Amino acid sequence: MQSVAGAGVVVTGGGSGIGAALARRFAAEAARVVVNDLNADAARKVADSCGATVAPGDAASVGGVAALLATARGVLGEIDMYCANAGVALGDGAGDEDDWEASWQVNVMAHVRAARLLLPGWLERGSGHLICTVSAAGLLTMLGTAPYSATKHAALSFAEWLAATYAHRGLTVQALCPMGVRTAMLDGITPAAELILGETAITTEEVADAVMAGIASGSFLILPHHDVARMYANRAADTDRWLRGMNKLQTRTETAV
Ligand SMILES: NC(=O)c1ccc[n+]([C@@H]2O[C@H](COP(=O)([O-])OP(=O)(O)OC[C@H]3O[C@@H](n4cnc5c(N)ncnc54)[C@H](O)[C@@H]3O)[C@@H](O)[C@H]2O)c1
Repeated sequence: MQSVAGAGVVVTGGGSGIGAALARRFAAEAARVVVNDLNADAARKVADSCGATVAPGDAASVGGVAALLATARGVLGEIDMYCANAGVALGDGAGDEDDWEASWQVNVMAHVRAARLLLPGWLERGSGHLICTVSAAGLLTMLGTAPYSATKHAALSFAEWLAATYAHRGLTVQALCPMGVRTAMLDGITPAAELILGETAITTEEVADAVMAGIASGSFLILPHHDVARMYANRAADTDRWLRGMNKLQTRTETAV
């Protein structure tokens, strides 16, 4: 898909932040949009603001994903594009059991469960488009929170697997991997994260711009911060050097906060 005009699009976690900006941008580009969020009021406000349909609920649980897809198909017919955008940033340091469980469900299994239900129809008709909001943390790491870093790596890995397995059958999969974006999530996390991400944080509208460009180009990685490509290459080329650099950054956050 090179343009979203006329497409039936679902955006999860669309009640705020990046998801809200994507929903509004897609609607402005003449897509037919379904806005999901756990926060029903927030989702309704976004949907009302752009002529979209609201479908509140949990976009991560088995039942929640099934209900969302049923509602969306009732409105859109077959879904052309699914943006698995809802995410959580939980857990200081190594995180506790609850942080890991919630991060796993929302940041990873939400994507797996949606893909499982979308694939049969998409493979049968030979087209379908999944955009997973991952994070630069999925290509690099996010100092300060292990559950976020590890589950974002898992989300990236799942998206890669889907692309590698189904590209020849008409499936387009893209991974949106920004660094800091000015949303409630960034504002809600640790002072260390603000120190690392604050200076280069971009707006949700800039992310939406990058997504539109990414859809037009079809590249697997959508990188609103161009530097991330260089950092990702450095990590692969000399992992020990990259880790030493990250540890230096960690020590800087410890002395600064
Ligand atoms: N803000 C950043 O700096 C940043 C950077 C990289 C990636 N991301 C990713 O972008 C995505 C969107 O985050 P954001 O920054 O817009 O944060 P946000 O907190 O503004 O939005 C996240 C939305 O997801 C919703 N949500 C959470 N769990 C849900 C569930 N189970 N079902 C349905 N909705 C649910 C929340 O209610 C919220 O409205 C996340 O996946 C996040 O990890 C954010």
